[in-house]
Amino acid sequence: MTKSIANRIEITRGDITLEAVDAIINAANETLLGGGGVDGAIHRAGGPAILEECRALGGCRTGDAKITNGGNLPARHVIHTVGPIYRGGESGEPELLASCYRRSIEVAAEHGLRTLAFPAISCGVYGYPHGAAAAIALRETATALERHDGIERVRFVLFSTEVLAVFQAARKALEA
Ligand code: AR6
Repeated sequence: MTKSIANRIEITRGDITLEAVDAIINAANETLLGGGGVDGAIHRAGGPAILEECRALGGCRTGDAKITNGGNLPARHVIHTVGPIYRGGESGEPELLASCYRRSIEVAAEHGLRTLAFPAISCGVYGYPHGAAAAIALRETATALERHDGIERVRFVLFSTEVLAVFQAARKALEA
């Protein structure tokens, strides 16, 4: 990862629903109709306007991303992406997880957005091993930022100190 790309990527601990960015990314499921984890937190904090727009989207394939308004959130938009359920790693999970980051950044760029915040997609209920997920997240984000100059800042907002440490280590490995 070059220095100029690294400067556009931040890693922090926190609650993504509090991020005042152009879009936060939601780790959703294929229905886009809500769930637990970060998905539940985003819909609770954002209110019914987000779900209303989600209902009209007709779901989302694993690895793809779709945008809605941000309702009552400080973020202007939510980009909903669907991570893979981890089934041992031989069922296309790495490519599908990479696709979540790539497609989310593409959708943001298509809408002229500049600042984004991601959670650790698939690292909760969907069971992706954290180290492998973090390496994919950072590598794919760095690659996407090379293609999309308009995205000024991508912040990974991680809920636990454990996942935070894993992402920081993955970043170090990528910069080495
Ligand atoms: N801010 C930032 N990160 C959070 C927050 C928050 N407020 N809350 C949880 N996390 P998960 P998945 C972290 O399970 O594995 C839902 O039911 C959490 O600690 O939310 O992609 C969907 O509807 C973990 O590190 O998402 C799907 O059915 C990370 O976010 C399914 O879960 C992702 O955990 C998706 O599973």
